[in-house]
Parts: sequence; structure tokens; C-alpha cells
Amino acid sequence: MSGRVRVRAPGKINLALAVGAPAGGYHPLATVFHAVDLYEDLRATPAAGITVRLAGRGRDLPTDGRNLAVRAAELLRARTGTRAGAALEITKAVPVAGGMAGGSADAAAALVACDALWGTGLSRGELHALAAELGSDVPFALLGGTATGHGRGEVLAPVPVGAPLHWVLALQDTGLATPAVFARYDELAPAPPEPAVPPGLLAALAAGDPVAVGAQLTNDLQEAALDLRPELGDVLAAFDRAGALGAVVSGSGPTVVALALDAAHAASVAAVVRGAEVASEVLTASGPASGVVRTLAP
Ligand code: C5P
Repeated sequence: MSGRVRVRAPGKINLALAVGAPAGGYHPLATVFHAVDLYEDLRATPAAGITVRLAGRGRDLPTDGRNLAVRAAELLRARTGTRAGAALEITKAVPVAGGMAGGSADAAAALVACDALWGTGLSRGELHALAAELGSDVPFALLGGTATGHGRGEVLAPVPVGAPLHWVLALQDTGLATPAVFARYDELAPAPPEPAVPPGLLAALAAGDPVAVGAQLTNDLQEAALDLRPELGDVLAAFDRAGALGAVVSGSGPTVVALALDAAHAASVAAVVRGAEVASEVLTASGPASGVVRTLAP
């Protein structure tokens, strides 16, 4: 058992998100996940029980059993039979309830950190299985990079990306609840056929062609997110006027992500969209970023 473990886990955006008709409380997905270099930082130290303290964007989140990092640590403890505990400290950079899987990143980080702290030695496959029990987006936070996701999002296959991609993210103060967006989706759309990832997008990613990637960003949940939050239409329009290569709601929203040609172009698009005053915060980020990795403690 080590003294202290520190890991980081990336936020994600969805470059494509196709959603099928629900079965058993979940919707079948065909998505392209892309990790960006906005990281949750988690430190774990030995303790009697399992506790979490949040800093950064997560100051107002619950720290009891509703917290996904606590649930991850408890699940690992139950499955391995260890009696060890951990005090978790998370500094959040990923927006809360923003469609970027920040809570899922915390859960993935907690699994890896506690496994190292407690010396429980799970394989990647075992960690992946626990991650899938915790939530649809948790396995991808472990893996990182760019990957297609099927099933609920837990069936992952890495996707090659020929060149780094430069993004502008428009955040909103008030998040959207994922179940509410899926429910609105069901009300708005007739049950679609089998969801599929656009093959042209995968070819554009492999070629490292940002213009072609930007033209093929799609999200079946976008209409539902716009219906619940009509102001997001202004964000999409602002990105269009600012000359972004393409813009789309990420996951269940409300974060809107836009692609730029390079880092300088991303900075200029971000400046224009900040001036439009349609978002609480406008950030730049790049991807693909790595999945959960250990960083230097403390
Ligand atoms: O798996 P996760 O906890 O992230 O999902 C939160 C909620 O989002 C689910 O309870 C469900 O209502 C909805 N969801 C869905 N289909 C998916 C993923 C999530 O309906 N594939």
C-alpha cells in the first residue's frame, strides 16, 4: 500500500452521437468519444473510511454516496474485499453537468487511484468492467484518446487521429441533466433505426483533416438540448459567425464545442465568441488527450 497516489482523468466531447430507440432504460448509442486536455486532478491518501473533498468547479457537488468518485471507491472495495479506505481530493476542471463527463472522469480516476493505493492490482479489463457498472461514460475516461463507443457507450474501439484537434468550448452556468435530455429526445423523435457512426468522420479523423472533421460533427441529442435550452442556438450561431469549422452540442449539453484549424485560430474564435456574450465561459482545449494516468504526487 502506497502513501499517496495522484492521477488525472480527461473530460470528453462527442464528435458524433447517434442514439437509437430505448430498451431497458437505456438508449443504444453509436458515438465517437474524444478526450480533451481539460483534466480532473485526484489525490488519494490512506484513511479509515471513504471521503471526498472537492475544489475547483465542483465545490457545490454532493460529497456523500451520490458522488460518483465515492461510489467508484466503494464498488472497488466491495468487489476486492479490502478493508482499506481513502480520502479523495478532487480538483475539477471539467464543467459540472456540462455534457463532458466530468463526474465519469472522477469515477475513473478514483478506480485507478484506489487500486494503486490499496494494492488491489486489478487488470485493465477488470477496471473497465467496474467502470461500465458506474456509468456509460466511465470506461472511456479510463481509456482516453479517441474511440468509437457502442452499447451504452462502454463497448470501445480506439480510432486513429492523424493530427491534434483544436477546440473552443462554450460553457454555461446551469447544467442539463442527462436523463432529462434523453427523455426529451424520446418525445421529439420517432424511434430511429440502428444508430451508426458516420464513416466519413472516421476517415477525416484518420487523415487529420480538421475541415472535413468540422463539417461532420453530429449529435442526435442536440435538438432535445436546444428544445430544453433555446439559448444554445445563439451559441451555435456565434461559432458560425466566428468562422469555426463546425460546432455541435457535446453529449447531452449544454456545453457547445467548435473546431478550429489550429491553436491560433482557436484563440481567435474564442475571443469573438466571448465578445458575443452567449456563454458563461469560453475555453480552448486540444485532443486527443490520454485517459487516466498517474501523475507525480503530491
Ligand atoms: O450511464 P449514466 O449514469 O451516465 O446515464 C445517466 C442516465 O442517462 C441514465 O439513467 C439514462 O436515463 C440516460 N442514458 C440513456 N442511454 C444511454 C446513456 C444514458 O438513456 N446510453
